[in-house]
Amino acid sequence: MIQFSFECKVAIITGAAIGIGFEIAKQLALSGAAVVLNDVDETAANKAVQLLHKAGGKCIAVVGDSSDLAVIQQMIDTAVEKFGRLDFAIANAGITTFGGFLDYPIERFQQLIKVNLQGTFFLAQQAAKQMIQQKTGGRIILMSSVTGHTFHPDLTTYGMSKAAIIFLAKTLGVELAKHQITVNAISPGATLTERTIELEAGNYKKTWERTTPNGKCATTADIAHTALFLLADASSHITSQTIVVDGGWTAMSPPPV
Ligand SMILES: NC(=O)c1ccc[n+]([C@@H]2O[C@H](COP(=O)([O-])OP(=O)(O)OC[C@H]3O[C@@H](n4cnc5c(N)ncnc54)[C@H](O)[C@@H]3O)[C@@H](O)[C@H]2O)c1
Repeated sequence: MIQFSFECKVAIITGAAIGIGFEIAKQLALSGAAVVLNDVDETAANKAVQLLHKAGGKCIAVVGDSSDLAVIQQMIDTAVEKFGRLDFAIANAGITTFGGFLDYPIERFQQLIKVNLQGTFFLAQQAAKQMIQQKTGGRIILMSSVTGHTFHPDLTTYGMSKAAIIFLAKTLGVELAKHQITVNAISPGATLTERTIELEAGNYKKTWERTTPNGKCATTADIAHTALFLLADASSHITSQTIVVDGGWTAMSPPPV
């Protein structure tokens, strides 16, 4: 783990009971930050909070759908009421639904756009308002994906939402710069999580090791290290950017065979 000190900092993070979000929450809590951890799965959220408490971290759960404006407001209110301020907002929650373009149903489309874009947009908006009111500056991280940069089969809707997140980070970074708030996105490549390990008929790790130039899948720690760097004082001049963490996958076009 990279050593950063986030003593006295307060973070909110969505979709953080497991996977990438949990690892970011864990590393933040172990670096001294107080964390408001959101997840729609109550049991998983409470378990995550217990794990962080056991490790000595300060953490509170806010259970609910991260695209619900009342849940977003509750996260911000909890950060301010329990920990006194808000410094970092990480819009991590996102759903991945596969499906071909020609058959993709509108209900699935609307649900994906609601979680991936509505949730991300309004978390950033409400967090920025709180940071501006505090006059403290702040950091916002949005979670994109390599599929927002390049084609992936059956992920047109998901990839479209992740491409929009890259644009959102670019534009909000400019809009909020005068308030000393940075906004950046992270685009993970294939990352080993509780969810992805089950994909590709259980062959996810092998498939992606074979397909990725450096021969590896990302770990949740690879993504969390990038997030912690973007939250650290050391990166205060970086804004409106997207960092791809993919072992070289998006840089490669299919070789002629
Ligand atoms: N895992 C990967 O390989 C990968 C690659 C690229 C991008 N991403 C992105 O990274 C982020 C995290 O991915 P992951 O694979 O760790 O997540 P995941 O699918 O494992 O889900 C993590 C948590 O999010 C929660 N969640 C789902 N919808 C929610 C909602 N509406 N409100 C609150 N919580 C909700 C789930 O209950 C779960 O506990 C997502 O935005 C995803 O699109 C992941």
